[in-house]
Order: sequence, then C-alpha cells, then structure tokens
Amino acid sequence: MDHGRRETLKRVGGAVVAAGVAPLVTACAGPVRSDTAPDATVVGVDPVLVDVLNHAGLAPSGHNTQPWVVRVPEPNRLLISTVRDRWLPHVDPENRELLLSLGCFLENFTIAAQHHGLEVDHRVVAATPTDTEILDVMLRRVDPRPYALEKLVSRRTVRNHHLARALTRADIQALTAPFGEHAVFFPAASEGARWLAEQTVEANRVQAYRDPAQEELSRWIRWSDEDALKHRNGLTPESMEITGLAGWYVRHFMDASSTMKSSFRDRSVDAVRKQVSAYGGWLVITSPDGSIPTLIETGRQVERMWLGIRERMIAIHPMTQILEEAPFRDQVAQQLGLSGRVQFLLRTSYLESYPDPVSMRMPVSRFASGANG
Ligand SMILES: Cc1cc2nc3c(=O)[nH]c(=O)nc-3n(C[C@H](O)[C@H](O)[C@H](O)COP(=O)(O)O)c2cc1C
Repeated sequence: MDHGRRETLKRVGGAVVAAGVAPLVTACAGPVRSDTAPDATVVGVDPVLVDVLNHAGLAPSGHNTQPWVVRVPEPNRLLISTVRDRWLPHVDPENRELLLSLGCFLENFTIAAQHHGLEVDHRVVAATPTDTEILDVMLRRVDPRPYALEKLVSRRTVRNHHLARALTRADIQALTAPFGEHAVFFPAASEGARWLAEQTVEANRVQAYRDPAQEELSRWIRWSDEDALKHRNGLTPESMEITGLAGWYVRHFMDASSTMKSSFRDRSVDAVRKQVSAYGGWLVITSPDGSIPTLIETGRQVERMWLGIRERMIAIHPMTQILEEAPFRDQVAQQLGLSGRVQFLLRTSYLESYPDPVSMRMPVSRFASGANG
C-alpha cells in the first residue's frame, strides 16, 4: 500500500475509533452472496431443474468466473457449454482450470438432481479444450437419493486464519482415500510442503508482475459494491477476505488501475507469504492424464471431497500459481516425487470457526435458458 493510501486508511480508522461507533465497523461489510436472492424462474425450464441448476452454480471456479452456460432444449436434456468472455487465457491458456471447474459444477448438478429423483447421464462432447460445447446431459426419473443440499450452499474457499495444527490421521485418510493413488497429503513440516510454501510465494510474485495476468485478474475483481451486485461473479473484497476497515477502504478507493500498481502487487505477495506461514498441510491431487473427461472427473472428485470438510472444521484454499507459471509448473511433480499430472494444490488446515460463504453467484437466469432462449 502506498504512503498516501496508508495515511487515508489511518485517518478513516481514526475517525471511526474516535466516534466510538463499533457498529460502524460491521456496517463496513460489503455485499455477500446471501444479500442477493436467487432468481426462482427461467422461462421454459421446470422449476425443479432451476433449483438443481441453482445448486450447481454454487461450485467453485478460478477467479469465480462461473464459466458455465446451460441450454435446456428438451425437458430431460441439457447442453453444458462455456463462453469465451469467461475464460482466463493468461493464467489458464489450455482451459485446464475451466474444465476442472465444470467438473465441480457437474458434481453439484448430479447431487442436486439425484436429490430430486433425477438420474444424470453425461457425455463429453468437446474434442479439444477450446471447444465451447462441453457436455450433453440426459435426465431420467428414479427414486430420490436425499442429500443435505445445505452442504452445497455452505461450501466455500477459506484463505485466512488457517491453524498450524497437524491434521489427524483419520482426517487425512478421509480426504485422500476417495482419490486412491491420486491424492497425497504433505504435512506442513514435510520437505514437500516447505517447497510448496516457498515456491507458491515465488510463483505469486512472478504472476503479480506478469502484466497480462494481472490485467486479467483486475477485470475479475469487483471492488465496488455496485460492481459486485451488478456482475455477481468475480472476486469481491469480502471473498478475498479483505474485511473491516480495510474492506471499506478498498471498496471505496480501489479500481482496476490500482490493481496494476506495484504497491498492490507487493501487498498481494505479502498476503500469500502470510497465508503459507501457518497451515496444516497441502493436499495435492493428480490425474493419470490431461484429457477432457479426466479433468472433468477430477473436478467432480475434488468437489465431492470439498463438500465433506466443513463438518470436520477443515478449510481448503486452492493455490494454483505454481501450476500456472514457468518454471514452477514443470518442476512440481518431480519435486514432490509424484507421477501423473498435478491438477490441484490445496492448502488444507483446521479452523477455529468456520465462516459463511460470501462469494457472489449469478442467478440461474443469467447462465441458463430454455428451448427458445
Ligand atoms: C480450478 C480452481 C483454481 C483455483 N485457484 C485459486 C487460487 O489460485 N487462489 C485462490 O485464492 N483461490 C483459487 N480458487 C478458488 C476460487 O477463487 C473460488 O472457488 C471462487 O472465488 C468462488 O469462491 P467459493 O469457493 O468460496 O465459492 C480456485 C478454484 C478452482 C476451482
């Protein structure tokens, strides 16, 4: 943060403290997901399917671009696609992360559909990662398979306040077992974890100073409340966990050009350094290959695991920059002694208290349409 900004922040903080108005600090909070009611209707789409899609859209995605687009040409058929203006060509040129995110979306979709008595059969129709049509999905009626859909609602990324407490053997087993040989947990004290922590800081530094990547990020940060409520995607101060007075300040004084200043870039790297200074370990997910069906399946498995961690008071923070930047991305598998391709680097820790979800979501009507849409 540059000197002028720090001074302003101090003055703002001073004014609030001088007024002795603690509730003002609470009023400093920006818009969060629960402030925006989900749209309950999509013309030409069964309300049950709209509910299923609403739950699917709660899936995680890189920069929260929510890259999914859904068309429902017939009551029991959906086409799941993506649109170019929600791609991240400068950090995800092969759409690897986009396909993992679509896998998370498909997993949420399948869980919610089964809950409502709909079985899901999907077929990957994309031949290359840059095809826009990805999945052809058929639905058929079956007995409902009840699921606590609240787990989809309350899942979130948690970036701060990770505890440096070792994970129990039972928790590590619960996290890794579903992946078979494709998940390895590196406790914070291990050599692999130390390499990941150090190189994550370095990869963030490289990325923060790579202008096209930083410009791309700036297009997905919704600094103002107005922008957050208008777009309902991207990253907000609340979702980046810039809260309290600092949150109030950035929501009023930051814009896309601030993101390009070296003060902001340096502060982002400092925040990452702080994040990797205390945590439980790294959950590293690999896959046998990088094919489209494999990436979608890997995304599904990660989402399934992510839905089960809140009840264990475990936080997950994907830190992807090592996989996005050279030379780190070419070194990571060998450094960690892993075969296969590394798809997710998840900083994983216990929390003292679990925060509510805050990242915004677009209404279903903005990403789905019926036969005539
Ligand atoms: C493939 C993928 C990569 C991600 N990479 C990062 C990352 O490098 N750093 C980060 O802070 N969050 C990362 N995230 C988390 C997203 O930013 C997050 O899912 C999104 O903002 C929505 O927030 P939510 O998970 O709380 O719903 C990633 C998520 C996915 C699915």
